[in-house]
Amino acid sequence: MKEQSTMLEAITHAANILHSGKLVAFPTETVYGLGADARNPQAVKRIFTAKGRPPNHPLIVHIATAQQMNKWAQNIPDVAWKLAHAFWPGPLTLILPRLSTVPDAVTGGLDTVALRVPDHPVALALLSAFGSGIAAPSANRYGRVSPTCAEDVREELKESVDIILDGGRCPVGIESTIVDLSTKTPRILRPGGITLQMLESVMGSLETTLPSKPTQYPGGTPSHYAPKARVVLASPDNVLRHIEKWQQCEKKIGLLATFLPDALPKSIIWLPFSQEIEKQGYELYHSLREADHLDLKILIVIMPEDVGIGHAVRDRLFRAANLNDTLKYN
Ligand code: TXA
Ligand code: MG
Repeated sequence: MKEQSTMLEAITHAANILHSGKLVAFPTETVYGLGADARNPQAVKRIFTAKGRPPNHPLIVHIATAQQMNKWAQNIPDVAWKLAHAFWPGPLTLILPRLSTVPDAVTGGLDTVALRVPDHPVALALLSAFGSGIAAPSANRYGRVSPTCAEDVREELKESVDIILDGGRCPVGIESTIVDLSTKTPRILRPGGITLQMLESVMGSLETTLPSKPTQYPGGTPSHYAPKARVVLASPDNVLRHIEKWQQCEKKIGLLATFLPDALPKSIIWLPFSQEIEKQGYELYHSLREADHLDLKILIVIMPEDVGIGHAVRDRLFRAANLNDTLKYN
């Protein structure tokens, strides 16, 4: 009971902090967000300073209910309402034509806005106490691994955030799926917790190839979602070959894999990865951070299968390894 009232007090306090133009880090089901009042351009600018993020990089506006889409977007297609009905609250972000009242600081000057209703009791309580949209990117320094617990946020942003609401570990563990509904053909810009199959079951087929300019989609710029260690992608068949090669550099090496390969040299640190695909999203960033804490210089990863959330996990690993397609990891 005491704990509940403490969390309630913390949420009320956090809502006041947002109203005063300052920053609040809060849990969502995907990753922790670094939030500011989305109607206050000065507050939104603080996010970019805290993260060290280029100012033309647009932010997601978090809202409390699907109905609130009307306050931020216009010409909302039917398919947006269908998707919202099926998957909100949840790990899905919709890109829609924006209303002119949305600050440029939020959209990076684009004529679209990204909206999402997060599925986390603390995030929803904060949104309802605040009473408006909260602009929030993941609460990490630009280009780094997203935080999946309050401690990670502290490690990333320390004094530049005014309050961190601690909601424990994020259950999904990787960022939301982003679907662009602002153009004729809907397109997935970032895979995440809502899979292609789930989307298609509601809306029919959609485009999955990415826009040609890397700056036009999330994580399109090099070295995104990356730990300090160099990430090397492997398969069960070639992992020992990779280990042999990298061992010659005499650097501290880790292996992220669902199993401990026979004949793994003792000097290699095994970071176990769940055999259940669903849990791999939950574990991924936690393991990448552990690699940093262990001061690994090389992290060899046996790639998960491309099923369910495994697709999004593979996407983040390709980006962490600075690769853009599936052909380069053998
Ligand atoms: O799960 C998530 O989406 C988390 C939690 C906190 O909600 N947020 C998150 O935000 O991952 P961020 O800023 O790290 O990634 C959002 C991505 C950005 O890389 C940006 O490129 C893209 O969304 N984005 C935002 N607005 C956009 C727009 N109007 N058009 C295209 N992409 C947009
Ligand atoms: Mg991010």
